[in-house]
Amino acid sequence: MILDGNGRWAERRELDRTEGHRRGEHALWDVVDGGLDLGIEWLSTFVFSTENWRRPKAEVEFLIWFNRDILLSRREEAHAKGIRIRFLGRRGRPVPKEVLDTIAETEEMTRRNRRMTLCFCFNYGGRAEIVDAVREIAADVAAGSLDPARITEQTIRRHLYFPDMPDPDLVLRSSGEQRLSNFLLWESAYSELMFPRTLWPDFRRRHLFEAIARYQQRDRRFGGITDHDNAPS
Ligand code: IPE
Ligand code: MG
Repeated sequence: MILDGNGRWAERRELDRTEGHRRGEHALWDVVDGGLDLGIEWLSTFVFSTENWRRPKAEVEFLIWFNRDILLSRREEAHAKGIRIRFLGRRGRPVPKEVLDTIAETEEMTRRNRRMTLCFCFNYGGRAEIVDAVREIAADVAAGSLDPARITEQTIRRHLYFPDMPDPDLVLRSSGEQRLSNFLLWESAYSELMFPRTLWPDFRRRHLFEAIARYQQRDRRFGGITDHDNAPS
């Protein structure tokens, strides 16, 4: 899910944009609970992109620390519900050390949970993820441990931020904007796309249920013809 529309939600109410982000937190946990009820095992949310650093400094600061506050205030509850929390993205400067530490602690605390894996794409960019994978692969080639002729799609997948994560079946972006904006570029090659118009702070589990009902009507062919038994996972 690409959580979008927080700023517009606030601007329409003549509130500060940060108020939209604050309201978005309630939407997130409502959708997570709805996902748990449905048995969704993987849910990834785009909360801060490598491009979001271009926003005004005050908004950037707010978002970085707000994401940390959310972890601190919600991780016990998420852990009790059987949620494994993971972060996908670049883990280094300019993300403050305290934030990186909280991320690492939260991942460690929840790492054995399997009811749902909730991924936060934070300081994440799909192109950056591919660049980082290519760097690691190039290092293996330079070290002589990998023959370039043996590089396959699986090689790249193994070097993504979270190789165990399955490709998303559905990519959903709130607020009606019809773009991927650098979200899970490699992974979303065959994802179904949906762009509900609801702004993120107004998003609730019923919007997720509606999207999944529509998803169930779609015919996924993965470049082949309709044969559901042979679709790649
Ligand atoms: C999404 O809402 C939140 C983040 C990407 C951090 P926006 O802040 O992009 O909201 P709009 O697009 O300005 O309405
Ligand atoms: Mg936006």
